[in-house]
Amino acid sequence: MDQSIPNLVSTSDDPLKAGTDVLIIPVGGPESRGAIYDSVNAACDAELDKTLDALGFTKATANTVTQTLVHDMVIMLVGLGDQPDLEAYRMAVGSAIQQVPEGKRVAVAAGDEPVIAGAIAEGAVLGAYHFDRYRNVEQERLDEIVIVTKASAAVERADVMATATALARNLVNTPPANKRPEDLADTIAGLLKDNNVSVTIRDQAWLEAHDGNGLLAVCRGSEHEPRLVELDYNPAGAERHVVLVGKGITFDTGGINLKPSQGMADMKSDMAGTAVVTAVMSALAALDVKVRVTGFCTIAENMPSGTAQRPSDVITMMNGKTVEVGNTDAEGRLVMADGLVLGSRMKPDVIIDLATLTGAQIVVAGMEIACVMGTADVAMDEFEEAAETEGEEYIRLPLPKRYATGLKSNIADMNNISGAGFGAGTIMAGMFLAEFVEEDTPWFHVDFAGPSFRDSVSGYLSPGGTGFGVRSLLAWLETGNIPPRA
Ligand code: BES
Ligand code: MN
Ligand code: ZN
Repeated sequence: MDQSIPNLVSTSDDPLKAGTDVLIIPVGGPESRGAIYDSVNAACDAELDKTLDALGFTKATANTVTQTLVHDMVIMLVGLGDQPDLEAYRMAVGSAIQQVPEGKRVAVAAGDEPVIAGAIAEGAVLGAYHFDRYRNVEQERLDEIVIVTKASAAVERADVMATATALARNLVNTPPANKRPEDLADTIAGLLKDNNVSVTIRDQAWLEAHDGNGLLAVCRGSEHEPRLVELDYNPAGAERHVVLVGKGITFDTGGINLKPSQGMADMKSDMAGTAVVTAVMSALAALDVKVRVTGFCTIAENMPSGTAQRPSDVITMMNGKTVEVGNTDAEGRLVMADGLVLGSRMKPDVIIDLATLTGAQIVVAGMEIACVMGTADVAMDEFEEAAETEGEEYIRLPLPKRYATGLKSNIADMNNISGAGFGAGTIMAGMFLAEFVEEDTPWFHVDFAGPSFRDSVSGYLSPGGTGFGVRSLLAWLETGNIPPRA
């Protein structure tokens, strides 16, 4: 695999003697600049204080970088803003890392508080992420980042988190011609072969034999067959079982209900759910997660053609329910239905699905916050709490019973879209999915159409796939705080 992030190492040596060209020091307010700031400042006759004073940098404006030279070492001071939370450390250090010139060796002062050092390490390494596979001339890149801290275990954990996040970014950033369903399935198998995860690839014939008609219907317009990839991590002594289902539309043209040109190119990211599931599976053993985790990647390409499904066609789904396809662009919920039926049949403690499901999600919560909804109230609480430590934010939406009528069809059990003017597009997609979760299985749905992909850099987030969701899930699974099913 290509190297999209630098190596991460830690040292507790004096950073002025660590032999790097650059030292990044995150700085808060004047009272709390940290031990490394103080020692470097003392070693250079208060040059750091003078630099900050000259800039009126007393409030340490978030993500602002200033440089000064001390003993031949470039010191980059980056502001944390007032009362920084962990995400402020990630963003600040990510901003600074992007200003380090190519080829320079860089150290980052992280202090000895493990959670802060870990956040700084994540921000640093993800801020240096590059996807250069398709360039003749590589962009500026760093080979290694040294984190100055005694909290070496936190840096190792950050390395696992960042490596998994980068894996998801790489899959999303890959052009759609290079991740047709069969290729993506094989790529996933290759990525997971050394991670204590069993991989089973289900092909078209298997789907035909098992009524995987959501995937089959959506992929009918494509020259490529769909795939369902089943992943399983089952550590000895596991007492809880979590199932993850990830939407894997390798490209979403909309199908016969063709999308407009504007924004269509972004639809290579419509497999971000599958990318997150794959990335999470890749890191479970390294984090020593004690929970069994099964992943289902529902992979298809949504293309218009003479063989494509038509609006008004009816599909009999895996659980026997019939669906009138009111709109071929509401394809995500069709492929997710297959994963949800298979996953909930395993009777896990909780089933979670992740999908770039609705444009309306962006209207509800914008580009940086995802939506979550479902029946597993306690699990959603635990998940959101763990996600916060990783700087990822979710808004809870209801699934109101009174809206169930919105999905009615004149000829089938249900329609895959609600009528014009019904509104609540993100909720209605969730209501559709709920019909495919087998009874009594605690479930929640994550719609991250907005935060999964971006067009500009911000802190440690690069343009393209963000890997949003990977660290939320890993942080939660790591706690083992999974409520048992009743
Ligand atoms: N993949 C899209 C949703 C999407 C839109 C993701 C923008 C990321 C950015 C999904 O398949 C889709 O097309 N949804 C439709 C549903 C509609 C037809 C009910 C939508 O949101 O317009
Ligand atoms: Mn669509
Ligand atoms: Zn889609």
